[in-house]
Amino acid sequence: PSAGLADRRGRPLHDLRISVTDRCNFRCVYCMPKEVFGRDFQFRERSELLSFEEIVRLATVAVDLGVRKLRLTGGEPLLRRGIEELVAALAGLRTPSGDPLDLALTTNGAALPVKAEALAAAGLGRVTVSLDSLREDRFQAINDVRFPVSRVLAAMDAAEAAGLGPVKVNTVLKRGVNDDEILDLAEHFRGTGRTLRFIEYMDVGASNGWVLDEVVPSAEVVERISAVHPLAPLAPTHPGEVAKRWRYLDGGGEIGMISSVTNAFCGDCTRARVSAEGRLFTCLFASEGTDLRALLRGGASDAELAAALSGTWRARDDRYSELRSAAAPAPASGPRRIEMSYIGG
Ligand code: GTP
Ligand code: 5AD
Ligand code: SF4
Ligand code: SF4
Repeated sequence: PSAGLADRRGRPLHDLRISVTDRCNFRCVYCMPKEVFGRDFQFRERSELLSFEEIVRLATVAVDLGVRKLRLTGGEPLLRRGIEELVAALAGLRTPSGDPLDLALTTNGAALPVKAEALAAAGLGRVTVSLDSLREDRFQAINDVRFPVSRVLAAMDAAEAAGLGPVKVNTVLKRGVNDDEILDLAEHFRGTGRTLRFIEYMDVGASNGWVLDEVVPSAEVVERISAVHPLAPLAPTHPGEVAKRWRYLDGGGEIGMISSVTNAFCGDCTRARVSAEGRLFTCLFASEGTDLRALLRGGASDAELAAALSGTWRARDDRYSELRSAAAPAPASGPRRIEMSYIGG
């Protein structure tokens, strides 16, 4: 009914990223540092989180407005009890022309060996697994809960065995922390069918003490890999794709670069985000969202929900990463930005 929904920069609403919990069993130093997310940290209470019924209702309305891709995030989405039931309900949604949606999930992998089968059976399409280092001491220092590399690799195997593959692998690069592993990581995943994506470390939230010097520009990553294994650019699979794709000339598969710092992709950003407690954000770097939970719990009709969603989207003017690249470092002033663990990246 609302074909043609676009924001103030002409960008359609195509993807909905749904955070299902603000909790995580890791304490990655760049995302949930223990000093901030310690024993006393107040996570949202269960009653504050959207129920599965509420999430499905929102997603249904969003699909009606043009959303074609759903991604479940966290925190760590597999910590949400019964997540496979939510997956099953979302997998049942259809576009107006009767097609299923692209349904994916981003995870640290810890629970995949236990959950992969159930998630696949519920209809999940694919998973993306985060892994920042292949070196045991280093990876355990990054996740800060002594989680071993081998278990993340086993999680990828489990996902693929269950039919959730081939998995994508997310690696956040930080200068001086893991940039010496660029080639090792590339070579580890080359030829496996798993697409490794190097992510430029971003200034999300206010907890991670981001500085520009710690960003490893994607151009440098491509150059370093290409010097050993020549790469050539690949066309995007769809407009607005976050990762720039590259392929190994010798047939070793593909690799991706997510360059939100050195090459912002706001121009065709079609992503809306819903936090676990039902706030709608039109940018990863937003500080305020639209409270959809109040509507959901206040007896709003589907039409009213749709109006809130489409109204927020039409008013959208966000392009934070473009502004930041134009004027780095990031403006430190202004309202406190949401945390990565709250909105799920
Ligand atoms: P697929 O393309 O479906 O594989 O997913 P994705 O790459 O969009 O999702 P994923 O959750 O794997 O995110 C990869 C990285 O890109 C994370 O660090 C995200 O925070 C970042 N990212 C995703 N969407 C955006 C965005 O709209 N803006 C910015 N700045 N970063 C984003
Ligand atoms: N910059 C870039 N990526 C980040 N992630 C978490 N924090 C940051 C950050 N500051 C990544 C996670 C995960 C993905 C969803 O976002 O490692 O792979
Ligand atoms: Fe690490 Fe992801 Fe958990 Fe953040 S949400 S602490 S990046 S595993
Ligand atoms: Fe989209 Fe905001 Fe990311 Fe730009 S910074 S790509 S507008 S989420």
